[in-house]
Order: sequence, then structure tokens, then C-alpha cells
Amino acid sequence: MTREPVATHRIAHVSDSHLTASGVFHEVLRPAATYSAALAALEGSGIPIAALVHTGDVADEGEEAAYTAVRAVTDEVLDRTGWPVLWAAGNHDVRAPMRQHLLGEAPDDAPLDRVLEVDGLRLVSIDSSIPGRVEGGFEPEQLAWLREVLAEPAEHGTVLAMHHPPLPVEVTAMARLHLTGQEALAEAIRGTDVRAILAGHLHYATSSVFEGVPVHVAPSLAYTIRLTRPGGGVIAVDGGRAAGVLSLYDDGRVGHTSMPTDPAGVLTSTPESVFASMGVDVEH
Ligand SMILES: [Fe+2]
Ligand SMILES: [Fe+2]
Repeated sequence: MTREPVATHRIAHVSDSHLTASGVFHEVLRPAATYSAALAALEGSGIPIAALVHTGDVADEGEEAAYTAVRAVTDEVLDRTGWPVLWAAGNHDVRAPMRQHLLGEAPDDAPLDRVLEVDGLRLVSIDSSIPGRVEGGFEPEQLAWLREVLAEPAEHGTVLAMHHPPLPVEVTAMARLHLTGQEALAEAIRGTDVRAILAGHLHYATSSVFEGVPVHVAPSLAYTIRLTRPGGGVIAVDGGRAAGVLSLYDDGRVGHTSMPTDPAGVLTSTPESVFASMGVDVEH
């Protein structure tokens, strides 16, 4: 009998919702609706979710009304699920209104770095936004703070959330928008209990390994960027939206599974009994 590893924690991962005060984005997009659809898909999946992580570009222009809209859409689901939420700020976010209207804190412009403990798992968000810039980076004080947070291992390890991913950018035109100072980040997490890094920013799903740690990038819930050849620019499409589910298993492994969240009809639905009759013994 093959034993499937058991997940101790599952973390819902959404990114780049880009809500606007007007409710409209790029003339035809309705980012509150596409963000809401992602939360509905996660809630409706029946997956036991330990926490929700949003890896930034929560709002497109940082307007107060955009953050209050994010709060309203999120709370509608949280009121039923009780999911704790960890927010990471992106280059489109503005720290003061994000603090005030999303976190209910006094508005100030300091980096938005946070720790959230969930059933022995430590979730840490570190603010990779540089006010006024598109590329990412960290202040030395932020990395000192991170080293301090990670000094003692947590029971089930740590998941790190940031907007700009520490991985090679496959769309050539976007490489200049990457995370700067990755060597210092590598140094800060070296030898620590970080098991996975969650990120966004690129608007396409991708993954890599950084300092031995898997990095998972969720696509945007507003629009998706297509892979293009060098010289091909940036092509944004109205579709391909997805949330991610990060699973942390009892054998030490982690997995990140993409869940499409655009409206789609069910093609077929096969009852589980069909698979039970296949004769392959699996303990799950
Ligand atoms: Fe974005
Ligand atoms: Fe971004």
C-alpha cells in the first residue's frame, strides 16, 4: 500500500487583485468580481484552508476606496470561514491607506512586514515594494528584522510571502521589474526553517528554487501576462486567472497547486466510487 503524505497545513494563495476605486480596470475588467470569484472557488473547494495569503498589488493605484472594497469582498468570505489573512504590499500598493483601510491600523509609510502564527506554522510577509518604483527590494533593517524573526525555528517551519519573487523572470521585457538585492535575502534565509516562498507580481504562474527553498508565484486575479520571446514585449490577456493552494506535508515536502478561477462550465463529473474500484491501493 502506498501512503500519500498528509498535509498539516494548506494555505490559500492569491495575488495581484488590482482593485480600483472606480470598479473598472483596463476599461473591461472588473477586479472586485474576479477577486471575489477566486475567494469563492477556494471556499467552495472544501479544502481545509489554514490561512489566506495575498502577495500584493492588492489595489491598482492605492486609493482608499479600492482598499475598502478589498476589505468588503474579503470579509464577506472571512465572516463564514474565519480564515486568518496575511497581506504583502506590492509596487501598486500605497502603504498608508493599505494599513488604514485593510489592516485597521494608523496610516504610516513604514514597510508592511508581518508575522502570523497558524497552528505551529509561521507565516511571514516582508514588504518588497520600494515607494515610487516598479522593481522590488528590501531595506537592510527589514532583513535584520527577518533574521531576528527566523532566529528560532517554528514547530512546522516558516512560509515567507513577498510581492516580487526571487527567481529568474522568463518574460524578457519584465526582467527589469525584478527583485533587487537577492543575495542579501539569500543570506537572511540561509540555514533557517523557511519551507516555501509565495510571491506574485509577474501575472503568470511560475516556480523555481531560491537558496534551496521552493518559490511559487501565483498569477494575477486581474489579467494574465503571456510568455513571449525576447523582443516580444508584454501581452496581457483577459483570462487564465487562478489562485494557488500551498500544501505543507508531514513528510517535509511542500506542493503548490493552481486552481483556475475564471467562470467555466463543468465538463464531466465522475463520482469517487469509480476511482475506488480501480484496484490501486492508496492510503490517504
Ligand atoms: Fe500586479
Ligand atoms: Fe507588481
